[in-house]
Amino acid sequence: MGERKKYAIIVAAGSGTRMGGDTPKQFLSIGGKPILRHTIEQFLSLSFPVGIIVVLSPEKKAWWKQYCTDTGFLERYAVPSGGITRFHSVSNALQYLPDDTVVAIHDGVRPFVTTEFLEKMFAAGEEMGNAVPACPPVETVREVSGPESYVLRRDDIRLIQTPQVFRSEVIKAAYKLPYDPSYTDDASVAEAAGYRINLVEGLRYNIKITTPEDLEIARLRLGKATLASRD
Ligand code: C5P
Repeated sequence: MGERKKYAIIVAAGSGTRMGGDTPKQFLSIGGKPILRHTIEQFLSLSFPVGIIVVLSPEKKAWWKQYCTDTGFLERYAVPSGGITRFHSVSNALQYLPDDTVVAIHDGVRPFVTTEFLEKMFAAGEEMGNAVPACPPVETVREVSGPESYVLRRDDIRLIQTPQVFRSEVIKAAYKLPYDPSYTDDASVAEAAGYRINLVEGLRYNIKITTPEDLEIARLRLGKATLASRD
């Protein structure tokens, strides 16, 4: 699996306001465990070692540490503090990333990523310098402009997921750029820094748990998987 050491930056410092409620979605429980733990566990079950960096908000660090102690989920990873936006959270985490490595940057709220998919993404990112998972939309897409709307060519659209994998020198160079609100993921930062983005086929059920509906779908899926593994 490539030459370079592998790292994962798992971003979990968001406040999750789109979900409603006080607890950010990455700490909500499914199948008896917080979503963030399910996500981290996928990286811990890879066939090669991965250095893990979990970005948490300063307010949630103590809570998470206590949870890990209470449940024996030992912290074998660095825990930098999150920033005001996802860009700032990733930027803080990159301080912990050694040079000449390859890194997968992943949303803490995507627990359905599989080990096979992670291995495929690590290999693609190491080989090409960057690799970004993408799925075609199944629904028709329209662009809105004030009261008007226009249909777009669905075949030309892709929905972008994480993990997005980069050689360390690529992503560190990209994050030297000043913040811009158009940066909603790491590929948009790398693209602004002049890198051509390589799309790789995404995993349709690698959903980003964002709304109460997503949480309900996630509970059905992970709850079922947890019950099956107890049989
Ligand atoms: O806000 P958004 O939906 O883009 O969040 C995607 C991921 O980035 C989530 O896992 C969230 O916890 C994380 N995030 C972060 N720091 C922020 C905002 C979001 O780590 N300031």
